[in-house]
Amino acid sequence: MSVKTTNEIDIVKVAQSKIASVDFDNLAFGATFTDHMFVCDFREGKWHKPQIKPYEPFLLDPSAKVFHYGQAIFEGMKAYKDEAGDVWLFRPDQNLDRLNKSAVRMAMPEIPEDIFMSGLHQLIDLEREWVKFGLGNTLYIRPFMIAIGSGVVAAPSTQFRFMIILSPAKAYYSGEVKVLIAEHYSRAANGGIGAAKAAGNYSAQFYPTKLANEKGFQQVIWTDDATHTKLEEAGTMNVFFRINDTLLTAPTSERILDGVTRKSLIALAKREGIKVEERSVLVSELIEGMKDGSLKEIFGAGTAAVVNPIVGFSYQDTYYELPKMADSFALQLKDKLTKIQYKLAEDTFGWTVKI
Ligand code: COI
Repeated sequence: MSVKTTNEIDIVKVAQSKIASVDFDNLAFGATFTDHMFVCDFREGKWHKPQIKPYEPFLLDPSAKVFHYGQAIFEGMKAYKDEAGDVWLFRPDQNLDRLNKSAVRMAMPEIPEDIFMSGLHQLIDLEREWVKFGLGNTLYIRPFMIAIGSGVVAAPSTQFRFMIILSPAKAYYSGEVKVLIAEHYSRAANGGIGAAKAAGNYSAQFYPTKLANEKGFQQVIWTDDATHTKLEEAGTMNVFFRINDTLLTAPTSERILDGVTRKSLIALAKREGIKVEERSVLVSELIEGMKDGSLKEIFGAGTAAVVNPIVGFSYQDTYYELPKMADSFALQLKDKLTKIQYKLAEDTFGWTVKI
């Protein structure tokens, strides 16, 4: 191991990288991690000196608040390698902004921009060999913050750990995606934490999603908690609907995550001359659209999932199979987005940031 300090980050490197033992052609999503991780602790009201160190488990007190009250937030980002071997991030400012909004909602300290950005850049720079060239190859980046202060009093922690871990990844969903439309369970309610990328928003979905999986559906499309008539998001992705030639998606709200892929697709679609409406989409519009043929496509959009066509949905025990579109909006937008991310097309929006 060698230790050096650069730009206020202590760096401890592994003696031997494990990269040679990784089969990059057969990666399960989020199962393999790179050699190093970024760690920065918050104590006594301030962030302390960050470290990049070997990826390894760490000890926490059994009474740490993250275990009891789920005071935990995270982000999902990706790095891409271009043909020249350079490594790029996609709109990291948007992730920092959302992370800090999540932090405020969960009574956690905000992360200063220099800690987040320099940690991200230096960690990925160190691990650039883990980012492989070729469409579909990415390095999934998971920044997260947990409450590490001890004590089972139900009050916010005063001590936190912010970390970044990296995982080489390909597609999140490997096969066709069929969804179940929620009729009873809810992901979020007004006044709750639905807009925050809080750990509990995801664990709360595990049970209803497990029930959906048992019936052969990969995901649940959540509906609003009050009436279960408005389509919201799909937990690992925001959702888009194409009715005739209009692209529809629910507006972000207290219940819906402000997805970076979501907002990028909206901008791309508008640039391509596609009519986009951000408005509540009703379940009844889908059922009508299946009857009169106006519902052409449904797709999910998220960092991990990228743009994922949905082949069919189930509602009130009826399964509806979507048509296969020769001019699929999902595939056109995915192509435009990924070409920008991999630097295969000009980034006129200024979204990509070089490491
Ligand atoms: C992402 O798309 O990065 C997410 O955070 C979703 C996650 C549950 C895989």
